[in-house]
Amino acid sequence: MTKQEISIGERVFRIYLDESQIQARIRELAAEIQEQYTNTELVIVSVLNGAFMFTADLLRKLDIPCNLNFIRVSSYSGTETTGQVKTVMGIGDNIAGKHVLLIEDIVDTGITLKELLRQLEAEQPASIRVCALLVKPEKHQVPVHVHFPGFVIPDAFVVGYGLDLDGQGRNLPHIYQLKS
Ligand code: IMP
Repeated sequence: MTKQEISIGERVFRIYLDESQIQARIRELAAEIQEQYTNTELVIVSVLNGAFMFTADLLRKLDIPCNLNFIRVSSYSGTETTGQVKTVMGIGDNIAGKHVLLIEDIVDTGITLKELLRQLEAEQPASIRVCALLVKPEKHQVPVHVHFPGFVIPDAFVVGYGLDLDGQGRNLPHIYQLKS
């Protein structure tokens, strides 16, 4: 049975998107992505840690040849961004001349995405598109475009399905929203 509420430390979260809603949307995203990349060799760049679960589920539904790379960045402290994006682990493979799909868990202020795009564009790929499971347009501080958005959500902190609060909650199969 799906837990309707969970707690992390003092904070209480209520169910927002359950596993079946998430998986149904991922099937649609996979179909949209496949349509864009027929006859193209695709390089997936997944942003750790948050996108690990989403990436695994999305890739299982993608029936096209693709190569998988990871990049790891960190910018959050608790529920707030520090505004400083630290690259903890860069991608190993050469993406010059390749078609890249960047996979993010959530685009909030957009600062992380902007910095990642700056870094990846410097490697001169043939194209870069962005797929993010969650997008919070009300929180954007910089203009960013997400080509394949999963869910557009309001400005409230979420955990679960890869997303954490200070390292907790990533293993939850559903997405929970902070109760105000
Ligand atoms: P941005 O730079 O503010 O767009 O945030 C990017 C990163 O911050 C995401 O990839 C997440 O790891 C983290 N983040 C932003 N909002 C949330 C949230 O509501 N829950 C959990 N992590 C978040």
